[in-house]
Amino acid sequence: MKKAKIVLIGINGFGKSIARHLQKCENIDLIGIHDINTEALMEVSRLFNLTPIKTLDEVLQSDCDGVVLEVPNHVHLALAKACAEAGKHVLVEKPITNTVEEAEEMIRICRENNVILQVGHSTRFCPRYRKAKELLDSNEIGKVVMIEANSSSEKGKSQTPESWRYYRDKCPGGPMLQLGIHLIDTIFYLTGCVYRSVTGYFTEGFSDTDNVDAGAIVMKLENDALAYVGSSYVSPHTHEMVIYGDRGKMEIYTDKIVITSAEGKKEINVEEKPGDSFISQFESFARCILEKSEPEVDGRMGLINLKAILDVLN
Ligand SMILES: NC(=O)c1ccc[n+]([C@@H]2O[C@H](COP(=O)([O-])OP(=O)(O)OC[C@H]3O[C@@H](n4cnc5c(N)ncnc54)[C@H](O)[C@@H]3O)[C@@H](O)[C@H]2O)c1
Repeated sequence: MKKAKIVLIGINGFGKSIARHLQKCENIDLIGIHDINTEALMEVSRLFNLTPIKTLDEVLQSDCDGVVLEVPNHVHLALAKACAEAGKHVLVEKPITNTVEEAEEMIRICRENNVILQVGHSTRFCPRYRKAKELLDSNEIGKVVMIEANSSSEKGKSQTPESWRYYRDKCPGGPMLQLGIHLIDTIFYLTGCVYRSVTGYFTEGFSDTDNVDAGAIVMKLENDALAYVGSSYVSPHTHEMVIYGDRGKMEIYTDKIVITSAEGKKEINVEEKPGDSFISQFESFARCILEKSEPEVDGRMGLINLKAILDVLN
């Protein structure tokens, strides 16, 4: 099978597990990894038996087709720009950037350099959401009226002034930008439309960070449905979505989808292993490179997801 040659940039945080997922992709040859932290770079490359690439210039001069950027949000634009200008296709982690201006610049630069820009909204690639989409499209619960979703964790409690998540300018919206944004993107995927208007609140003072600790937004979607997304960085891990239709209710879990309607309760099993969504996301990026096709989650989609949060925050 023809494989896309990929370099992973940013390996000492979430990038470590991403390296594992990239190694499992059928159509990807992970030809190297790069990080500005050379010590970590050498350690991870030894651990995972991967080729360390010590400088960004060497990445740009390498024969890789594309890069995966697993670096802090405020670094996304600079790296995407350097890679795009060197003709490398870009998969940038979510959020696309921290500001609308930066996102628009990234989209423009990638377009001008004729490279693919995909944004790492991996959650929509989870088998449970692919199944949910199939069921919604086959009218299992009728027209979608409301959606309630929450993605939370306790990560805010362990942030220190050394971490970029600590600061509102480096991570505007806190948990909503990091976790809630996955649900926002997934809601747009499931309903096949985006938001028309959005309102909500953010709150702070529950952790020691200089950032917000939780957010709650309500969107009115283009199809007139309402969608609530909540996200806290100081609460136990949660990832939930319930969809209310005009004929039934759909609860989405990792291993099953439960549909309740006038006909009773129905459970549909879902086979999902940790990492499935990432492997599927990266394989789709590689397919776009190899087949010269458009990504499912392009820069424009990444910008809409970001704006749904910034419209409330600013
Ligand atoms: N899709 C998901 O589910 C998911 C989960 C976690 C994090 N993320 C995203 O991944 C990105 C990274 O998050 P993280 O938690 O791993 O951050 P992190 O700070 O823990 O790690 C970032 C890594 O990038 C490296 N780095 C920083 N600047 C660099 C540069 N200029 N060149 C090369 N390497 C550089 C750092 O040395 C570090 O190894 C963020 O955009 C975040 O939103 C996505």
